[in-house]
Amino acid sequence: MFDSSTLFSNAFSGLKGNIIRELYKYTSQPSFISFAGGNPSPETFPNEELAEIAFKVLKENSVACLQYGVSNGILPLREYIAEQMTAEGVPTEVENVVITSGSQQSMDLLSRAVLNPGDRVLVESPTYVAALKIFSIYGARVEAVASDDEGLIPEALQEKLEEGPVKLLYLIPNFQNPTGITLPWERRKQIMEIVKNHNVLVIEDDPYGKLRYSGEPVPHMKTLDTEGQIAYFGSFSKIIAPGLRVAYVVCQEAIAQKLVLGKQNNDMHTPNLTQFIVNEFCRRGRLAPHIEDCCCVYKKKRDTMLSLLNEHFPKEIYWTKPDGGLFLWSKLPEGYSSMKLLEYAIPAKVAYVPGDSFFADESGVNTMRLNFSNASEADMEKGLRLLGEQIGRYLQVKK
Ligand SMILES: Cc1ncc(COP(=O)(O)O)c(C=O)c1O
Repeated sequence: MFDSSTLFSNAFSGLKGNIIRELYKYTSQPSFISFAGGNPSPETFPNEELAEIAFKVLKENSVACLQYGVSNGILPLREYIAEQMTAEGVPTEVENVVITSGSQQSMDLLSRAVLNPGDRVLVESPTYVAALKIFSIYGARVEAVASDDEGLIPEALQEKLEEGPVKLLYLIPNFQNPTGITLPWERRKQIMEIVKNHNVLVIEDDPYGKLRYSGEPVPHMKTLDTEGQIAYFGSFSKIIAPGLRVAYVVCQEAIAQKLVLGKQNNDMHTPNLTQFIVNEFCRRGRLAPHIEDCCCVYKKKRDTMLSLLNEHFPKEIYWTKPDGGLFLWSKLPEGYSSMKLLEYAIPAKVAYVPGDSFFADESGVNTMRLNFSNASEADMEKGLRLLGEQIGRYLQVKK
């Protein structure tokens, strides 16, 4: 007799659903106002132009779009990425570029290529929740490196590296998910000086870097990479559209070849059609002006959220003021729980992501992530007023 309860691997038996997906049963209700998800705003999608481009590329390259393709990605797009990265201070050849079906896949492929059960992986504290899950699926021992208002603390990294071998260091240096924090140039240099002395591969995950609304751009960490020690993850999800599932890894050739082997045994290749669409959009010179348009939309949303937080949140609450990206990070006073606060927020039909799931250890109980890219101005006004009221109630009850 078949018993599926004994079927699953150790990794999957213990795997829990993502909190954002779990909240979806509430946030999908029409009257609910959600600051939980991480979706880019649909108003930024270049729908009409992508439809026209899809038609054109299918007409002009029908076989290349519809036939099986190469696992490392279509050459013109890899060439475009190599040119862009070189212009951004990272000398790149096409051999260094692998196209993937989203940075999430980049992370999975790289983890599969390098991790053995028990390997140590260092992450910021907090960090992207899906990265924590992927590293754990491959049996890694994920350890949080202490981080502050400017991101990962180099001295804390040094200590962790001195404790023993580390396989991977995972960083999101720009407009980090979940905190919105950008790692300053000085720290990037310090971190690179430290890792140079260790046999550790660094992931520079950068899906939000081009979404800057204030302050000065900080060069990629990979501009400091003299050893081929960084795998840089770029993605078109947040700057064109996530449903296209087109992203890329820029890394040394030996690593790129392993990622390609991983793709051969996974999805074979990223869909040719969406690669051709992205390539055509970029080759027309549309990416930079489109990103400017996105930044205009998101800057307004960020500024609106920041001023509404000032207006509606109790004075005991802390939040970050990010220069870009899609999120800001908020903290209740110590001793309060953002998970408990959901018991107040959900009946008021407003949601956010409780922050503890972004931590590799048991910390962050009082933290929460707020997304500003999705809600309309009217919903933001109403939702933050409601959330502010519920926080006020919760703080009263606990006293
Ligand atoms: C830090 C980070 N890395 C990777 C991803 C996944 O992006 P993609 O759509 O390219 O898979 C996300 C998506 O939200 C993210 O926040």
